Amino acid sequence: QTGLFTYDPGFTSTASCESALTYIDGDEGVLLHRGYPIGQLAEGSSFMEVCYLLLNGELPSQAELTDFTRTITRHTMVHEQLSSFFSGFRRDAHPMAVMCGVVGALSAFYHDSTDISDPDQRRISAHRLIAKMPTIAAMAYKYSVGQPFVYPRNDLSYAGNFLRMTFGVPAEEYEVIPAVEKAMDRIFILHADHEQNASTSTVRLAGSSGANPFACIAAGIACLWGPAHGGANEAALNMLKEIGTPDKIPHYIARAKDKNDPFRLMGFGHRVYKNYDPRATVMQKTVREVFDALKVTDPLFETALRLEEIALNDPYFVEKKLFPNVDFYSGIILSAIGFPTTMFTVLFALARTVGWVAQWNEMISDPGQKIGRPRQLYTGPTQRDYVPLSQR
Ligand code: SDX
Repeated sequence: QTGLFTYDPGFTSTASCESALTYIDGDEGVLLHRGYPIGQLAEGSSFMEVCYLLLNGELPSQAELTDFTRTITRHTMVHEQLSSFFSGFRRDAHPMAVMCGVVGALSAFYHDSTDISDPDQRRISAHRLIAKMPTIAAMAYKYSVGQPFVYPRNDLSYAGNFLRMTFGVPAEEYEVIPAVEKAMDRIFILHADHEQNASTSTVRLAGSSGANPFACIAAGIACLWGPAHGGANEAALNMLKEIGTPDKIPHYIARAKDKNDPFRLMGFGHRVYKNYDPRATVMQKTVREVFDALKVTDPLFETALRLEEIALNDPYFVEKKLFPNVDFYSGIILSAIGFPTTMFTVLFALARTVGWVAQWNEMISDPGQKIGRPRQLYTGPTQRDYVPLSQR
C-alpha cells in the first residue's frame, strides 16, 4: 500500500519491470506521470516541464526549468555531416524509415556520452536525444518535400522551433501562431510516456544489453512505426478519409465486428485502457481549439465524433470495452496544422523520446539491472534423431 494505490502481488508477478515514472489504471482511465494526472499536466504545464518531471522525478522550479530548457535548446543542432545521411534515402521514403536510419546513425557521432555507467554521460545522451529529435524530424519532412533544411533557433520554444524548422522557408520569416504552438506542445505532453508499451519495452530490452543509447532509441522508433502502435494515428486519419461521410459509418462498424474481416477501427481499443483513454479526451478538446485558432474546420472531425458516438453505443464495443485512444483524434489536429499523414508517427516518436530515455535511464541506473531474457512456452517437436539426406 503506497498512498492512493495498493499493489496486487499477482499483478507484479507478471510485471516486466518496476518503474516509478508512469501509472495507468486501465479500468478507471487514469494516467499519472510521477503522480500528476495527465489532464492537469496537459492543461497547466509545458512539455519541457514534463520532460524535467519524467527525467528527475519532481516538477522543476522556475530556475530549474529555465536551466533545463536552455540545456535542451543548446543541443538542438545536429552535426552537419548528419545531413548527408538523408541523401541516401529516396525522397518518397516514409519519414519513419528515415528516422530509424538517421537516429540510429547518431550512435556513430557521439563518443563522449555513451559510457552508460556514467550518470553524467547518460544525462547528456538523454538531453541530446530530446533536443535533436525535432530537428531530425523536421529535416525528414523537408527532405521529403525537397525544401532546404531550416536550422534551429535558440530564441524559440521547443514546439515553436519545431514548427519553424518544419514549415519555415529561407524565402520568408515563419510566424509561430501561439495557439498552434500551445497545441503542439500539448500534443507532445500527451505522447511523452505511457508505461511499458511495446516501443518502450523495446528500448528497455535493447538497452538491457548495454547497447548504445542512440541505437536503442532507433529500435523504439522501429517498433512505434507499426499500425497497431504509434502508426495508428496515420492509419486512423486514413480510415476516416476512407469512411468519408457519417452515412458510411455503419458499414465500417459492421466490418470492425466481423471476425473474418481484418479491418479494425484504427484509434480504437487498447491493451490496457478498458475505459476512455484520458489523452483522447484532451486531444478532442484540442481539435476545437486549433480549429478556432486557425479558423478552419474539417468534416472528418464530425465523422470522427459520430463514429465515436455510434461505437460507444454498440453492444460489441461496449462488451469488449473498446474506446477511442490517443491516436483517434490526433491526426485531425496534425492535418489542420499542415502535417502530412506520413509525419504523424514521426511526431509521436519525437514526443515519446523523453519517455524512452527516462525509462532507459531508470533501468540502467538500477544496480540490480540484468539483461532482459524473455522465456517461451515450447510447442515444437520433442527430441528426435537426425535422418541422413539419402534416407529422406
Ligand atoms: C498505442 O500500449 C500502449 O500504451 C500504446 C499507446 C502508447 O501510448 O504507447 O497507448 C499507443 O499504441 C495506442 C493503440 C493504437 N492502435 C490502434 O488504435 C490500432 C487499433 N486498435 C487495435 O489494433 C487494438 O485495440 C490494439 C492493438 C490497440 C489492442 O489489441 P488487442 O490487444 O487485441 O486488444 P484487446 O485484447 O483488448 O481486444 C479485445 C477484443 C479482441 O476481440 P476478441 O479476440 O476478444 O474477439 O476487441 C477486439 C479484438 O479483436 N478489438 C477490436 C479493436 N481493438 C480490439 N475490434 C475492432 N476494432 C478495434 N480497434
